[in-house]
Amino acid sequence: MEIGFGAGEHLLAQAQRHPTIGFIGCEPYLNGVAALLSAMENADLGNIRIFPDDARLLLPALAPASIGRLFILFPDPWPKAKHHNRRLVNPATLRAFARILRPGGELRVASDHDGYVRWILDYATRDGGFLWLAQRPADWRQRPADSPATRYQEKAMGRGQSCATLRFERRHMIAL
Ligand SMILES: C[S@@+](CC[C@H](N)C(=O)[O-])C[C@H]1O[C@@H](n2cnc3c(N)ncnc32)[C@H](O)[C@@H]1O
Repeated sequence: MEIGFGAGEHLLAQAQRHPTIGFIGCEPYLNGVAALLSAMENADLGNIRIFPDDARLLLPALAPASIGRLFILFPDPWPKAKHHNRRLVNPATLRAFARILRPGGELRVASDHDGYVRWILDYATRDGGFLWLAQRPADWRQRPADSPATRYQEKAMGRGQSCATLRFERRHMIAL
């Protein structure tokens, strides 16, 4: 599952790489949805389902432990403190992500905003539901080999900005 897939390049690449796996993409930006639909048609790809709206509306409808990997790549950082409550990754959504991810499944979040990276690390590791998988700086500084660069990542790198990719393992079931 990918939340906020933008124009869908990453989701398309993952779905092409894993043709026997079903993917869900959430994106309210309709031009992005149209771009992905067109790319899916050109690639004759049938293993992606699109939810063209706010992912938070879909999360309660998904069965517990039904998702193997959840990608959130370059979510809007909402840098001002007064807008932090708009951040897509927050304690409430992290509980929802923990519910839908199977134990041992992966939550992968990338960002070029240091403050948001620290925020995500802080909240994701706070209640014990997720284990941060990094063992050395390269584990968050380098983009994972199985994740092609997204449009936002290309832009950030073009500005000379460093990006972090945080990979978490869903640890255990919690009562929600
Ligand atoms: C900064 S863009 C990154 C797009 C893409 N992931 C990339 O890296 O190029 C953030 C995207 O998240 C989408 N988004 C924001 N809030 C969302 C939500 N609640 N549910 C689903 N998508 C959301 C926006 O529409 C936007 O396309």
